[in-house]
Amino acid sequence: PDVAVLVPAAGSGTRMGEGTRKQYRELGGDPLLVCTLRVFDQCDAVGHIIVAAPAEDVRRVSDRLQEAGLRKLTAVVEGGASRQGSVRNALRAVPSSVNVVLVHDAVRPFIRAHHVSGVVDAVREHGAASLAVPVVDTLRRQEGKNFGATVDRDGLYRMQTPQGFRRDWLETAHREARTKDVPATDDVELVQRLGHSVRSVEGSAYNVKITTPTDWSLATAIWPRWCE
Ligand code: CTP
Ligand code: MG
Repeated sequence: PDVAVLVPAAGSGTRMGEGTRKQYRELGGDPLLVCTLRVFDQCDAVGHIIVAAPAEDVRRVSDRLQEAGLRKLTAVVEGGASRQGSVRNALRAVPSSVNVVLVHDAVRPFIRAHHVSGVVDAVREHGAASLAVPVVDTLRRQEGKNFGATVDRDGLYRMQTPQGFRRDWLETAHREARTKDVPATDDVELVQRLGHSVRSVEGSAYNVKITTPTDWSLATAIWPRWCE
């Protein structure tokens, strides 16, 4: 298929703390990065996988991913100083036959193929789409050490990945962002700046971005049953 997924995996995991970078830590015997990539390798909607790794690890990551037998691995490129830079570098390695580009965090292994194909379908229809889940907690601003105003949670969503785009939209978005040098928190924001609408696709609460040691312990607890 004419679909590529870019997987930024060049972060340093500061919120996870000391030790091995989180994308290399083992979940059920495989590095987290490999766990995440397997889903896309087995997803019929996806044709190409492009990974952005820390500059000093590109060779080693590439060897390890070959060893894992990922059939769709197309390139391992050098990551950037920011997630946005890593995505931009990966985008340059997308083959010319590709029309739809997904971006998915290396550290979201609890992604299911039907969610991936849901995003791809929405991109084909609307040009851009992202998984997201409604906020369930009460939201309240903190003022000093006390609570202040309650924030209306109605209509608020937590953004997830994959986020997917027409290839030309994502390329233009990253080119513009680089020229203007205004960073964004994700690719949806970059594409919205071009004036395009981005479709919301219902995600899953399981699709967490492993960020903190607590996330890691939840992930290791769930993983064995997840893979049954
Ligand atoms: N990422 C990247 N290049 C960077 C920074 C982040 O490819 N320069 C990737 C991470 O590897 C991760 C994804 O972007 O797969 C989401 O980022 P995040 O969860 O913030 O990971 P880290 O940046 O590694 O963690 P932290 O922010 O706690 O340092
Ligand atoms: Mg980060």
